[in-house]
Amino acid sequence: MNYRGPQRVRVSQKPMPEIKHPEDAIVRVTRSCICGSDLHLYNGNVPDTRVGTTFGHEFIGIVEEIGPEVHKLKVGDHVIVPFNISCGKCHFCRQGLYGNCHESNPQATAVGGIFGYSHTAGGFDGGQAEFVRVPYANVGPTVIPPGMDPDDAVLLTDVVPTGYQAAEMGGIQPGDTVVVFGAGPVGIMAARCSWLFGAGRVIVIDQYEYRLEFVRNYAPCEAYNFREMDDPVVFIKKATDWMGADVVIDAVGAEAAGSPLQTITGRKTLIQAGSATALHWAINSVKKGGIVSIVGVYGPTDNLVPIGNVVNKGLTLRANQASVKRLLPRLIEHVQNGVLNPKAMITHRVPLEDAADAYRIFSDKLDNCIKPVLIPPSARI
Ligand SMILES: NC(=O)c1ccc[n+]([C@@H]2O[C@H](COP(=O)([O-])OP(=O)(O)OC[C@H]3O[C@@H](n4cnc5c(N)ncnc54)[C@H](O)[C@@H]3O)[C@@H](O)[C@H]2O)c1
Ligand SMILES: [Zn+2]
Ligand SMILES: [Zn+2]
Repeated sequence: MNYRGPQRVRVSQKPMPEIKHPEDAIVRVTRSCICGSDLHLYNGNVPDTRVGTTFGHEFIGIVEEIGPEVHKLKVGDHVIVPFNISCGKCHFCRQGLYGNCHESNPQATAVGGIFGYSHTAGGFDGGQAEFVRVPYANVGPTVIPPGMDPDDAVLLTDVVPTGYQAAEMGGIQPGDTVVVFGAGPVGIMAARCSWLFGAGRVIVIDQYEYRLEFVRNYAPCEAYNFREMDDPVVFIKKATDWMGADVVIDAVGAEAAGSPLQTITGRKTLIQAGSATALHWAINSVKKGGIVSIVGVYGPTDNLVPIGNVVNKGLTLRANQASVKRLLPRLIEHVQNGVLNPKAMITHRVPLEDAADAYRIFSDKLDNCIKPVLIPPSARI
């Protein structure tokens, strides 16, 4: 599956990936997902997304070949591969900031390498493919525990850790009211995980009724449609005794809908790096002294955000790409104990060959799609 230009992806034959470094592994993919982050690439909004690049940062697979310095894996292991590529040794990896590795992405000093996420994130081919090269194979890949459903395992590569970290960065105190913007897989998981940190009330905002209905039952939580509100900020203030929410999570990112000004400047003319509508709403609807936790993805250049309100309200903003490796041991346990049930979010199982259809369905939110998983031919028998 590779990029041809905005809203165009195609499945084609590419050369088999090879071991290029002694710590590389080649993995035969058994499942890969399409993520909201892939839509930023798909829509041509991520700088230096080159034609021919294979997308896919959420995948699991079987180790096919290992380099001479790979000691933690053996051929035949079925592994969860975190979406971040991390060296495990640099200043940032040593602090558990595996999404900010200083070694894996020569093109930038902000984000580390990410599979299938443009040359801005290192130029690595991704896992929406039959085979993928996995660098630093002693660091990221984690063997799927016996008995774990591969559909749960593939969601541990990104969505579960991202949703969990969104709640964690919110610094939720017992009884807090948490508002989550976005009822995609990330927002759904953030809402679910907010309870694990002691939230007393969880409210999710989106525009698609089928997603609101799903999260209402799954999280469970209150869920409302911003298309039916005059002003989402006033709505949240009213729902919280005019105080604002204790914690607000932005699980939407740079392709937010809901503000014509943001949409024109951020999505049509690209004067700013995407539309910051949900972030705007988050800053304005959190209470004074509150925390805004941002996992929605924004571009490396600038956005229109009400920074004056951040200052004058005394807010804390926390944000990052999820640190998948740091969170995996705890989240594997939560899945094994039934505390989290990620595979319930998978609505579409699509042959890898039909990836272009899956992109269209997920991008246009057709057929009540929440999370599509792509299955390569060798994993279907
Ligand atoms: N930080 C990380 O590590 C990380 C990891 C994965 C995904 N992400 C990001 O998280 C975001 C969500 O991913 P996803 O897979 O759930 O995507 P998705 O496209 O399935 O869901 C996004 C949802 O946001 C809703 N939305 C749009 N504008 C809104 C607004 N103004 N207010 C409230 N909701 C609004 C959409 O209707 C949609 O349901 C994306 O930006 C993605 O790039 C970040
Ligand atoms: Zn993702
Ligand atoms: Zn590192």
